[in-house]
Amino acid sequence: MAASTSPSLSLDIHLGAEDLRAELERDVKSGLGGARKSLPPKWFYDTVGSKLFEEITELPEYYPTRAERALLELHAADIAVLARSDTLVELGAGSCEKTRLLLDALAASGEVRRYVPFDVSADFLKASAADLSRDYEGLQVHAVVGDFLCHLDAIPGAGRRLVAFLGGTIGNLVPTQRRRFLAALRGSMGPSDHLLLGTDLVKDVARILAAYDDAAGVTARFNRNVLSVVNRELEADFVPSRFDHVVRWDPYARWVEMHLRSDRDQLVHIGALGLTVPFARDEELLTEISAKFTPAGVEAEMVRAGFTVDRQWGADHGEFLLTLAHPGSRR
Ligand code: SAH
Ligand code: TRP
Repeated sequence: MAASTSPSLSLDIHLGAEDLRAELERDVKSGLGGARKSLPPKWFYDTVGSKLFEEITELPEYYPTRAERALLELHAADIAVLARSDTLVELGAGSCEKTRLLLDALAASGEVRRYVPFDVSADFLKASAADLSRDYEGLQVHAVVGDFLCHLDAIPGAGRRLVAFLGGTIGNLVPTQRRRFLAALRGSMGPSDHLLLGTDLVKDVARILAAYDDAAGVTARFNRNVLSVVNRELEADFVPSRFDHVVRWDPYARWVEMHLRSDRDQLVHIGALGLTVPFARDEELLTEISAKFTPAGVEAEMVRAGFTVDRQWGADHGEFLLTLAHPGSRR
């Protein structure tokens, strides 16, 4: 379904309200129905959650956004020259904020015709895309609402594309999802396309943990917001304040885990599913992982998925890493 809102701004919806609802029902059934409870992270990002995430990116403890922006400020010109793209696609675009650095660099070194922000969060995407379209006259903004785990083929293929996947969002996928996603992305890309991947790097554990457990409690509110989403969409009766925000570092997997821990024995009813979910005191619901990487590890995963790495920025003692790659021959 496509709806044109102005000549230079259009919106494709591959995931309408009904599809989203069906997916949420499935995820809640399988995630809360079993013994080890979990929910996939994409449900954090309703309008409230997307705004809370923006607040997170401005917190003193949350270094990844600032570190990634600093890398883009320093290296966007190099990236633009290497990629020579006329179309910027952005997966999990969110507020489209750091995007402007890439658009400006692409415009300075060549011609950028089109920006394709892709996100599961429809309302927030619409607003961000409209803002950006107002600021970039002549740029065709083609927003796409979809799930990057299943709708990569819905992304328009025309042009020489730079596909940006920033913010360390790839670290929110579990390793099998990540492998499949990278292979599918590789398969969807043409020979003149490039991928720009932003990944957070392994570092001092206290610093990582603080980024997901800020003093002001914004991340805790963000984490609990997923319960409000389930309440609203599936007529559930979670009392968010009865769940504590818990963050842990897994040294073997090298990821941060975000949990919601029940502060008492309690029953939660999911009205729309006719489901009653028991929580024991101290039982945890896993809401998110955020994997941290090494430069060599990122390169190895990309090569395994069929990419050739052009260059990495931030690899020398940096906090965050940008990797530019293009479809290559498989080893
Ligand atoms: N790129 C931005 C936002 C990162 S937050 C930044 O770097 O600041 C992650 C974004 O990915 C959110 O906007 C969320 O709605 C989106 N997202 C999460 N899971 C998704 C999925 N499966 N498909 C599409 N978008 C997803
Ligand atoms: N991609 C972000 C990250 O892994 C998402 C994120 C930041 C996040 N803070 C969070 C997800 C807190 C859940 C809870 O850094």
